[in-house]
Amino acid sequence: MNTSAETMFSKRSMALKPSAVREILKAAERPDVISLAGGLPAPELFPAEAISQAYIKVLNDKPGAALQYGITEGFGPLREWIIARMKKFGIKSGLDRLLISNGSQQGIDLVGRAILNPGDVVVTENPAYLAALQSFASCEAEVVAVGSDDNGMLVDELDELLARKRAKLIYLCPNFQNPKGTTLIAERRQLLIDIARKYSVPILEDDPYGELRFRGEAPKALAALEDELVIRLGTFSKTLAPGLRIGWIHGAPSIIRRLAILKQSTDLHTATLAQWAAAALLETFDFDKHIAMLQVDYLRRCDAMLTALDRHMPAGCKWTKPDGGLFVWLQLPEGVSEKKVFDSALRRGVAVVPGSGFFVGKPPGSFLRLNYSNQTIESINSGVERLAEAMKTAQRE
Ligand SMILES: Cc1ncc(COP(=O)(O)O)c(C=O)c1O
Repeated sequence: MNTSAETMFSKRSMALKPSAVREILKAAERPDVISLAGGLPAPELFPAEAISQAYIKVLNDKPGAALQYGITEGFGPLREWIIARMKKFGIKSGLDRLLISNGSQQGIDLVGRAILNPGDVVVTENPAYLAALQSFASCEAEVVAVGSDDNGMLVDELDELLARKRAKLIYLCPNFQNPKGTTLIAERRQLLIDIARKYSVPILEDDPYGELRFRGEAPKALAALEDELVIRLGTFSKTLAPGLRIGWIHGAPSIIRRLAILKQSTDLHTATLAQWAAAALLETFDFDKHIAMLQVDYLRRCDAMLTALDRHMPAGCKWTKPDGGLFVWLQLPEGVSEKKVFDSALRRGVAVVPGSGFFVGKPPGSFLRLNYSNQTIESINSGVERLAEAMKTAQRE
């Protein structure tokens, strides 16, 4: 076929750039590489045996229903379990407010497609979750970012921005943000809600990591503070296993109805078998105990990384101190190129993610995202030590 990409593909698809993270993850697959790059949970902590039993149970007990088409909104008992779970966190939900999605990534895609016309403005924190930025780009939206610090999005900047510019959506990850690992503090949450109400802009609250808090008190979910304007995304990816591909979208009934129509055109519904198995699992599985185990384990890995950074990193490096989640965000000394450190680290057998891809516009410095959930304590120590050597080499060059 004699067609160029420009003539063959839609503007929407051409607006998508290959994800730098996915390319790096390919390099990180080399068996000799310690990967601090991905956002992967620890596979040895998946409740694999319990999940396997749940699949066997539903296939034995109700094969006809578990293998049949289902309704777009999702399997009732699974939705009821999620609704009860949200109630524990002060979020009032209901069957008309909840849609099961194919991971929370599909939630980002559906909400973007439901709300954003080409040229519409979506406001994110800076830096932000890369695949959300890609998703908004595929809607041909204009992504505008406001800064963040160790306490999350700078909501005063958001207020100033919205006074000048009409936005259709605010997107953020308020707990243990990807890539920084930081959390939006309680005072800013209330201010954020006040601002969203003032300008009538819906907020997309993306919360894959909230359950993984291993230190401190959890501030209230945005959806617990405002139940009309906030659309909240949840997922079992970091609590049970990402391969289940089960997430959910909670929001006002009118929004959920619209998203269900869009989801029909995408995939009809999330896999029935996975939903039935998840519901069967959660009937008997001690989810709270499992989460408590994950928190203890990730705390150990996080602390190992923070201690190794303290021990090995040269002066001028700074990093975040997460209270949960999977990531530490490392700022390099002034003038040190993240590309050089990345290349030199890979030569030493350590993969990390350069920070620039997470920024909208010009990054305010050089950064790396480090993951601690997918490596042993020994590999974290050795990985950080090698990374520090790579940093010192890059500093000398
Ligand atoms: C902030 C954020 N949102 C959404 C997702 C997508 O997760 P899921 O597996 O639920 O689609 C991720 C995955 O890493 C993430 O970090």
